[in-house]
Amino acid sequence: MTPLIPEKIEHYCASHSSTASELANEIAQYTHAHCEYAQMLTGQWEGSLLRMLIGLTQAKRVLEIGTFTGYSSLTMAEALPEGGELVTCEIDPKNAEIASRFHARSPHGGKITLVPGPALETLKTLIPSFDMVFLDADKENYLNYFEAVLPLLRTGGLIVADNVLWSGRVLAPRAASDKAIVAFNDTAAKDPRVECVMLPVRDGVSLIKKR
Ligand SMILES: C[S@@+](CC[C@H](N)C(=O)[O-])C[C@H]1O[C@@H](n2cnc3c(N)ncnc32)[C@H](O)[C@@H]1O
Repeated sequence: MTPLIPEKIEHYCASHSSTASELANEIAQYTHAHCEYAQMLTGQWEGSLLRMLIGLTQAKRVLEIGTFTGYSSLTMAEALPEGGELVTCEIDPKNAEIASRFHARSPHGGKITLVPGPALETLKTLIPSFDMVFLDADKENYLNYFEAVLPLLRTGGLIVADNVLWSGRVLAPRAASDKAIVAFNDTAAKDPRVECVMLPVRDGVSLIKKR
């Protein structure tokens, strides 16, 4: 992933944000050592933002689309209160197995329900309402996820969408995924059902509040 801000500034921001748990660090190390596309993992800087948002919105029920090896789901579950719930969707059985293995080692693992399979199918089975949704899976479906999660979200609830700058490719979209992110960003900025702010954190994060 191409850094969008100077690496030294990114490092300064990360090192002046709260640290991750030991187990989250272990997931990151394992992922970098053993998994393809380890850069997909959100990491400590964005993780501290996710934890902060859960606290600020007083979220009790969170939905994640795209578990990967379980870093962001564990990080968010750690921030949820006792009795909180995090549902996370993952299509790849190998990723799901790795994530479940790490989640089982955490005292917060009981808050996490990992649902295997294509997220759009899973979303049809979920009961409202969620306080926050972290959108971090296949970019071509971002607009479909947006439409599918809005009815699942409470009024005032938050969609946190990752990779909205897509390494800067949103400025000159060519591939289908570039165009899908651009279409998603345009919709999120203009749709009267939501309020949106885009932040240049890591690969770009949009905070989208349901009115
Ligand atoms: C960017 S990674 C998620 C990273 C994770 N949130 C983290 O911070 O560690 C995206 C994940 O979405 C999964 N994925 C892709 N398409 C999907 C789909 N249609 N349904 C569910 N999961 C999907 C991929 O297998 C991958 O593990």
